[in-house]
Amino acid sequence: MLKILTIFGTRPEAIKLAPVVKLLDKTPGVRSRVVVTAQHRQMLDQVLSLFAIKPHADLDIMLHDQTLFEITTRSLLGLEHLLVREKPDLVLVQGDTTTTFAASLAAFYHKFAIGHVEAGLRTLDKYNPFPEEMNRRITTVLADLHFAPTRLAEKNLLRSGISKKQIFLTGNTVTDALKEILKKGTSHAHPILKSFKGREKILLVEAHRRENLGKPMENICTALSRLVQDFPNLSVIFSVHKNPRVRETVYKVLKGQERIHLVEPMDYPTLVNLQKRAYLILTDSGGIQEEAPSLGKPVLVLRKTTERPEGVKAGVAKLVGTEPGKIYHEAMTLITSKEQYEKMSKKANPYGDGRAAERIVEAILYYFGKRKKPPSPFSG
Ligand code: UD1
Repeated sequence: MLKILTIFGTRPEAIKLAPVVKLLDKTPGVRSRVVVTAQHRQMLDQVLSLFAIKPHADLDIMLHDQTLFEITTRSLLGLEHLLVREKPDLVLVQGDTTTTFAASLAAFYHKFAIGHVEAGLRTLDKYNPFPEEMNRRITTVLADLHFAPTRLAEKNLLRSGISKKQIFLTGNTVTDALKEILKKGTSHAHPILKSFKGREKILLVEAHRRENLGKPMENICTALSRLVQDFPNLSVIFSVHKNPRVRETVYKVLKGQERIHLVEPMDYPTLVNLQKRAYLILTDSGGIQEEAPSLGKPVLVLRKTTERPEGVKAGVAKLVGTEPGKIYHEAMTLITSKEQYEKMSKKANPYGDGRAAERIVEAILYYFGKRKKPPSPFSG
């Protein structure tokens, strides 16, 4: 039996690992177990119940307004004995959260092999995004198996000195998860939509990154406020992250404003449905940048840099930063120019083809000598 232990802690990791966990569960010769740090509580539990994943262990580390020190040490200490008990052949982690980093470090301390899903994303800017850029770089150094979602991610890994033999080009599992949700239909309309007449242009907003807390978040809100004032057919739906520091600013600047709806983080199918209904998406989230092109929705990225330049290159995303004037201008252009809007709202799939989980499981079996050939790479 090949013992695989998948460790995650936040909503995006859960969404992106769900397709892999589901497939591992069905793979003969594999004993698959899931451990959650629960760096997120409510937002993680939504995804666990959606995909019917029952963790083998739950470290329940989340604290109100937690610091990076708390997330790191509480995860590490929680995993210390658990890993000894489990003795996995492979620890699987995803992405670039502090759980990803701490779980990789814990596995390394016990000398267990590490597989990194969504490996090789880079901005090459140490503090952007913070702490994610360093979380993923450190995870690269510790990992044995690297599942690169795109050709560019593969190149980044090669440049970091990782040997080609350890890299598998798989596509991003977010596309697998998205396909699964779309298959289930679009009955998950957000209740807020009931009050809509159908002619409004919906601006869907989600922003939570640590480097955007404080002034940049305030700037984003100011731009939104000006946009609704100037365009009467515009409505904003802002999914307000559970982070108290996000909520403080967003509620301070936008609460009570007409046509600005501040809503709680919703479950994944509802968010996907809302992306489909939106006219335009403004976000600093990584996952939404990856999902929106599949849904044909333009994205304005509220950040200085992105480790996902594929969408920008394909012409479906634009990096706009957090200056209110720039956000206003770029959004206004897409609201007023049909031509510009149509250019950016074409469908594109630079991130995956829905078969990433399959390739990841095949690659693991190949790595452990249970398959003769590696999976054929994703051709994005
Ligand atoms: C984390 C990840 C980030 C990822 C994001 C996705 C780190 C350092 N950051 O950021 O990479 O993009 O998740 O959402 O790993 N909270 C709740 N309930 C929840 C979730 C969060 O109350 O279900 C609150 C807690 O008070 C917590 C705060 O939100 O202190 C921030 O959560 P945290 O995991 O520290 O950082 P995120 O900003 O969510």
